[in-house]
Amino acid sequence: MIIESLKLNNFRNFKTLNIHFTKGINFLYGKNGSGKTNVVEAIYFFYLTKSFRTNNYLQLIKINNEFSVINGIFNEGMMKYKIDIQLSKDGKKVLVNNKNITKISELSNLLDIIYFIPKEVNLFKESPKVRRNFLNLSISKFDDNYLYNLQNYEKVLKERNDLLKEDNFDENLIKIYDEQIAKFSCYIYKIRKKYVLELNKYLSSIYTKISGNNEELKLHYVPYINENENYLKVFKEIYSSNLENDKKYKRTTEGIHLEDIYLTLNDKNLSFFGSQGENRTAILSLKLAPYFLINEENKKPIIILDDVLSELDSSRKTKFIEFLKKFNQVFITSTNKINDLNLTYYLVSDEGVSIK
Ligand SMILES: Nc1ncnc2c1ncn2[C@@H]1O[C@H](COP(=O)(O)OP(=O)(O)OP(=O)(O)O)[C@@H](O)[C@H]1O
Ligand SMILES: [Mg+2]
Repeated sequence: MIIESLKLNNFRNFKTLNIHFTKGINFLYGKNGSGKTNVVEAIYFFYLTKSFRTNNYLQLIKINNEFSVINGIFNEGMMKYKIDIQLSKDGKKVLVNNKNITKISELSNLLDIIYFIPKEVNLFKESPKVRRNFLNLSISKFDDNYLYNLQNYEKVLKERNDLLKEDNFDENLIKIYDEQIAKFSCYIYKIRKKYVLELNKYLSSIYTKISGNNEELKLHYVPYINENENYLKVFKEIYSSNLENDKKYKRTTEGIHLEDIYLTLNDKNLSFFGSQGENRTAILSLKLAPYFLINEENKKPIIILDDVLSELDSSRKTKFIEFLKKFNQVFITSTNKINDLNLTYYLVSDEGVSIK
């Protein structure tokens, strides 16, 4: 999947904008505040109708305007999709090939976008929820049944938690929930484990390509159960044996909704021992790795890299650009142009965006 063109109306600092993109590396450069991040933010918006820097979509509407329009043409092999999004105080309206869609999942099934923005360097310093979100979102592209199991797990978990908040609730009902939740947990656990194993086939090689050093980067999954156990039985025990604690805290205190992951570089935990630059390169490698798990060429995600180059030393910068040539379509923003014949350059300025 690639994006062929983007049209903006009253989006962030742009009154109007119309750009065509190419396959390979699209390099957007320009001064601070010229609108580079705004352009890639608009591209990412097609994926989940979410911005990667604000939860309030109204901030995307150009100040002093009532609404904002984002149009994109996407190409997936022989298929073309025209996506139109309109933002206003009344909500978000999304059309795919002129047909209204109501469920965001229809968009995220159609598209796949991976992004890396500077604040990503804190991925392992933030709460585990952020890491689980990353894992869940990327696994949903890897396994067709994962999202179904996860959504059902979350539904039962919510019902279980609601029940725990009631006085004198029926404990038999909790037992029924535990049966269901254990079943979904088994599936989620198996796929998470498999996925982390698959990602690890690529992590060290991506890291090594960017850093130039032969190093071992490994993702570790911290599950609730041990290898070779009877999953279903153990999961049931996890939920049922914590009932006293759950009653005390009025929520499900143990379970796969609390699982986590961490990274090691040459067997050392990166969050505790890694330098800022090592952390950045490692997390960048982690975010790019899911690209290699998508087998179908046309389904491979678009890559958005906002401001990553300024953070890499000059040797890593050159190696990284070389590595990025492997990907179908990449967007990089930077304040400085890097001269390389194989990139398409866009100068972003007050006058708009032009190919330079
Ligand atoms: N809703 C809005 N209406 C009008 N202008 C906005 C809106 N939101 C943001 N802007 C402006 O858009 C401008 C460009 O922002 P953007 O973050 O895209 O810059 P950038 O080119 O990525 O800069 P940097 O190199 O510093 O990262 C900013 O000056 C900001 O004030
Ligand atoms: Mg920016």
